[in-house]
Amino acid sequence: MPSQQKALVLETKFGSLEIKDIDVPKPGPDVVLLRVEAAALNPADWKIHVLGALIETYPCILGSDAAGTIEAVGANVQGFAVGDRVLAQGWYDLPTRAIQGTFQQFALAPVSNITKMPSNLSFEAASTIPSGVATAAFPLYNEAEGALSAKLPPPWEERGRGKLAGKPFFVLGGASSMGQFALQFARLSGFSPIITTASLHNTELLKSLGATHVLDRKLSPEALSKEARAIAGGYFDVVYDAISLPDTLEAAYNATAPNGDLIVVLQTPIPGAEKNSAKRVHMAHGVFGAEINHAVGKSLREKLPALLESCAIKNYQPNPVEVLSGGLRGVAGGLDRLRNNQVSGMKLVVKPQGTV
Ligand SMILES: NC(=O)c1ccc[n+]([C@@H]2O[C@H](COP(=O)([O-])OP(=O)(O)OC[C@H]3O[C@@H](n4cnc5c(N)ncnc54)[C@H](OP(=O)(O)O)[C@@H]3O)[C@@H](O)[C@H]2O)c1
Repeated sequence: MPSQQKALVLETKFGSLEIKDIDVPKPGPDVVLLRVEAAALNPADWKIHVLGALIETYPCILGSDAAGTIEAVGANVQGFAVGDRVLAQGWYDLPTRAIQGTFQQFALAPVSNITKMPSNLSFEAASTIPSGVATAAFPLYNEAEGALSAKLPPPWEERGRGKLAGKPFFVLGGASSMGQFALQFARLSGFSPIITTASLHNTELLKSLGATHVLDRKLSPEALSKEARAIAGGYFDVVYDAISLPDTLEAAYNATAPNGDLIVVLQTPIPGAEKNSAKRVHMAHGVFGAEINHAVGKSLREKLPALLESCAIKNYQPNPVEVLSGGLRGVAGGLDRLRNNQVSGMKLVVKPQGTV
């Protein structure tokens, strides 16, 4: 293992992203060191860089998702060994608002953030999974006391599989990374019909992931809510808004049953929300390392490899991928494309080992 590596470093808030040679970190007791073969881009990366969101500790290395091979394990690590192929969420510490992300050639990942990869998955595909899967699953299925969640029975466990058969489900933004995973969880839960909104060129993809109906996202919020309710035959007990901008929130809120659960992914005010409504609005919290997510995260991580292995029969699959050239040098251009809404139904991925 080399002592130095290339990393994409953000020195200061609003600073520029620069490739630097830095030390390869050493794993602490409950942490592994990962040789990052693929790292996926997320909207959070450009929001931290351009808007100064989420992070207060600098310098930092962005990147929330990766797949690679374990290079070293900390003293307390059990169940993982050097050479294992794993997918990993980057290390984000909520109390200090610090991130040690995946846009580097060797990254640290706590055991709570890693899952073994099934042999049928490429590193590129696997890197699309951790944050999308967590942010889709936790607000739907985290049964922990105090969790912001609809607290449905997890469908990756026998007791939850197919349990919600016959109930309708509505996902706003089905083509987003989280939308794609939410659709697949809804299918595993047995929901039907599963209605989503997207650009219509994504219809085939979304139907392959479990959507029964795809509505054109260009429709007005009023029309979207009305059409979705007409298909479902009434209001929805559970709605997942994977976009959570004012238009989608309005449609999502108006489609949610008076006593229902609405999951949002951003802290945006909901147009027309009533003050004393009994609707429960849950802000998604997709960080594996957060204590409130430990139990649901562990249960999901244990079952993910089997779910993914069966992706040949479309039980569960990663997002479609576009690999950017230039290794870590591809990140900045990719983040510009994400910020300018130029990515549709696709996850952008870089290969840090190819950085020159
Ligand atoms: N709370 C959390 O823990 C958490 C975690 C991760 C992400 N997030 C946030 O969640 C949001 C989505 O993240 P992501 O990674 O899933 O995004 P993404 O994959 O980059 O989303 C791109 C997709 O969004 C769809 N889209 C955009 N506007 C839409 C609209 N008005 N209606 C329907 N679809 C729309 C587009 O669909 P078409 O191509 O079909 O037009 C596009 O394919 C971001 O704002 C992100 O910051 C929150």
